[in-house]
Parts: sequence; structure tokens; C-alpha cells
Amino acid sequence: MAGLRVAVVANRKHSVKVEAGAPPDALAEYDAEETVQGIQEALRARGHEPFFLEADETFIDTVRETRPDICFNIAEGLRGDARESHIPAVLEMLAIPYTGSKVLTHAISLDKAMTKRIWRDVGLPTAPFQRFCRADAPLDARLSFPLFVKPSREGSGMGINARSIVHDEAELRAQVDWVIRTYRQPALVETYLPGREFTVGLVGNTRPPDAPRRSEFYDERGFHVFPVLEIDSQRGAVKGIYNTQAKSYALDDPLAPGYLCPADIPTGLEAELRRLAIAAFEALDGLDVGRVDFRMGADGAPYLVEINTLPGINPLVSDLVIVSRAGGVAYETLVNEILNLACERYGLRWNVGTLERSNV
Ligand SMILES: Nc1ncnc2c1ncn2[C@@H]1O[C@H](COP(=O)(O)OP(=O)(O)O)[C@@H](O)[C@H]1O
Ligand SMILES: [Mg+2]
Repeated sequence: MAGLRVAVVANRKHSVKVEAGAPPDALAEYDAEETVQGIQEALRARGHEPFFLEADETFIDTVRETRPDICFNIAEGLRGDARESHIPAVLEMLAIPYTGSKVLTHAISLDKAMTKRIWRDVGLPTAPFQRFCRADAPLDARLSFPLFVKPSREGSGMGINARSIVHDEAELRAQVDWVIRTYRQPALVETYLPGREFTVGLVGNTRPPDAPRRSEFYDERGFHVFPVLEIDSQRGAVKGIYNTQAKSYALDDPLAPGYLCPADIPTGLEAELRRLAIAAFEALDGLDVGRVDFRMGADGAPYLVEINTLPGINPLVSDLVIVSRAGGVAYETLVNEILNLACERYGLRWNVGTLERSNV
């Protein structure tokens, strides 16, 4: 076999119908056509045969008809409280391999409160929090203002605005009420983290103790962690928070926040962020690729904010692609490493030597 028949599975922005009463940022999570094209080009360049499948209700039929060797999954899912796990669930049922994390991991990581419970359980640093299903629930006495309010199951900065930082009960109640009504899901309330913001992207999988090291590209533990990216929200149009609007500007737009990669930080902090990113990923049984967001607390220590087990992979603007490029890893390599990691897990091989790859 020359290469693999790889179905790129995504929800493209223009194909998603916005439901009545949906918030104005309802489409923010979905993918641009250029992302689907970029992934296909990267796969084609390494000898694979990519094709596209829309991750909508037709998917169960189209994937059975086309029977790909593997799916390159970036589908955000259309609805429900675990939408990112729908495509993986269908593929598990049909026994078709796919890239990235599995059903349970995506279902949990989409839910920031559930994720934080697991991190807290394994002793990783994450800000104290409370999940509000109704706006008048009593506030946990262990939480103190200022607090930060966000939807528990969104991404791409959705539902985050200047009123997300709340200073008293009245502001808290108003914002929690708005989040619950607008996004139709619980609100996550957590200690406001006033410090610098970082994100850490990685590819890899935990190396079983008896397995040989994959290649020089991966460390002893089985991961390649990209350089730390600092997002400086003191710059740009949206001050202090990294929301949908802030994420929408081109990198060189003066309205965009500052993107600094590698971040100018002491080596001790860099090592700590890298260690925590891997630990956060492993705690959720993440696979192949992920991106972990951090903010520094008032005590000067880093805290885990959230994990993206389906990080954006837009060839131009996504944080994962920015950090990969800053680390000298081209888009084509990033995409193919994700594919190769999944193939290795499934024991899928194509022509000899493909897994002994060059990485830049
Ligand atoms: N506890 C917090 N304290 C301060 N800022 C926060 C906090 N949680 C989130 N933010 C801000 O909101 C942004 C989006 O929150 P995040 O949890 O990463 O959600 P998303 O999935 O939308 O990226 C973060 O990048 C950060 O700027
Ligand atoms: Mg985030």
C-alpha cells in the first residue's frame, strides 16, 4: 500500500446551522475551510490519500460507504453535553481507527468543571471553583472575590467578556444567570487568576515502560512539548482576557493580543509548565495531541485553567500551530506526527520506513 486513505472529519463553519436562540458566538468553535484543506495538503505531501467527511448526521453513512483506513478527527460536534465525543463514539462502534483522544477523554475535557475535579483529585494545581446550575445557589464560603465566571462546556473564548470578572455578589449573580440562560449549561465560577497567561502544546503518548523510545523527536516519557506561548492580553483590543474576539484577529493585527513564543520566562517556570502540561494530559488519558492553558495566580504560581484535547489546528492562526512553528516544526510535520502517533497505537503500517520519519 502506498499511503493511507485518511478521512479528515470536521464540522466546517459554513455547514453548521445555527439553532434558534443560539448565542452570537455559537459558530466560534467550528473549523474554517482552510484548516480542512491544510490538513489534506499536509497528508498528501507524505503520500497519503486524504478526503473530507462532514461531521454531521450524514457521517454514519458516509464513513461506512467510504471506509477510510483512519480518520483524522477534528470534529467539534454539533450538540449535546459531550459533542466532541460523538465522532469518536461512532468510529469506536464501527471499529475504524481515528487520531486523537477517545470518547471519555473528549467528554470530560469539554466540561471544565469535571476536568478540574480530576486534576484536583490527582493533586495538580487548579483554582478553587464551584459549578452553578442556578444563579441563586449559595456561594461556597471558601471562594473569595474577585471571581471569574464562564460557561462550563464551551471553547474558543465563548461566553467570556468584560463582565466575566466579578467583584461582588450582585455581579456574580448577574453573570452566572447570563451564562446559564445564554449557553444553556452550568456556569463555572473560579478564583480570578490575575497573572500572566501561557499555553503549552504537545504531541505524544505516554511511553509504556518496556517500549523503545519512539524517535529523537520524543522525550523519554513519550512526548514532544512545544515551546511555551505567552498570550499578553494587555496588548490589543480586548484587555485582560483572551476571548473569542481577541482570538479572531490575525497574529500581526495591532488589535490582536501579544503572542510571545518562546515566552520570556525563567527556566524553572518553563520546566514546571511543561511538567504540568504532560501531567494534566495524562490525568485525562489524552492521546496524540493536546494544548493546556495556564494562568499565574496571585501567589505567583501557575494554575491549570483548561485542556484542549481537540486543539485548533488552523494553519494560520491556531495556538498549536504557532508553538509548533516556533519550535521549528512545520505544519506538514505536525499533522503527520499526529497521524503517525495514532497509526502506531492501532498498529497501522503503510510503506516500510514511514514511521522512521524526519521531523522538520
Ligand atoms: N480563573 C480565571 N482567571 C482569569 N482569567 C481566566 C480564568 N479562566 C479563564 N480566564 C480567561 O478566559 C480565557 C478563556 O478561558 P478558557 O478556560 O481557556 O476557555 P476557552 O475554552 O474558551 O479557551 C482564558 O484564556 C483567560 O484569558
Ligand atoms: Mg482556553
